[in-house]
Amino acid sequence: MQLHIHPTAERVLTDLADFFVAQAAEAIAARGRFVVALSGGSSPKKLYELLASPAYREKVAWPQVFFFFGDERNVPATDAESNYRMANEALLKPLGIAAAQVFAVDTTLPPAEAAAAYTETIRQFFGAEEARFDLVLLGLGDNSHTASLFPHTPVLHDASVGARKVFLTDKNVFRITLTAPLINQARAVAFLVYGQDKAAAVRHVLHDARDVEEFPAQLIAPAGETHWFLDQAAASLLPKQ
Ligand code: 6PG
Repeated sequence: MQLHIHPTAERVLTDLADFFVAQAAEAIAARGRFVVALSGGSSPKKLYELLASPAYREKVAWPQVFFFFGDERNVPATDAESNYRMANEALLKPLGIAAAQVFAVDTTLPPAEAAAAYTETIRQFFGAEEARFDLVLLGLGDNSHTASLFPHTPVLHDASVGARKVFLTDKNVFRITLTAPLINQARAVAFLVYGQDKAAAVRHVLHDARDVEEFPAQLIAPAGETHWFLDQAAASLLPKQ
């Protein structure tokens, strides 16, 4: 596990953008494609805008990149809450990514069916090979959730490799999330976390005793590499390096 800690969120974003470029080049050179699962929420929007900016857009062979989503809200793709909509506006549309390269959750279906359909989409994409994302981008909630693996939800103990529905009782909403076992098959996972409001969650996940019910992001331990891209504020409660 590698920590990449920087004084400001801007420096974190450029470091992660450089990492994304390097991971894409390595995957495309080795296997002819780069298969990435995008994170939702607000943190990654600036990363996606940076990757689509003149400073980075020419650094990646975008036609060989295939996009999945680590989780999705149970809303239409046009909804302001949609992770797909955010990524499409910040990254996919500005880069002119072909629809055939993008695999979004079909939220026109009821949650359980949407999860089953996404599991099948992933299985068909990887075919006979194991479903291994080259990179899974993740955020961290201030309650230590990641993707939509929320505290005290049954999906935390789901051993299946796929996508599952999650019901958030406090918000009375459904989400669809990749399961921890599927995320953990990834060649690399990169968390992007910045801001003081995430410092306690970062400490819980990276330093406190294992308690996946309370700190679900502790479930993430991929076969490959785990990277944390943090600003100093988010890392401020970690023991000094
Ligand atoms: C989502 C994300 C979720 C997110 C965290 C952090 O759909 O919301 O997948 O796991 O990464 O909630 O969100 P912020 O970046 O908005 O703080």
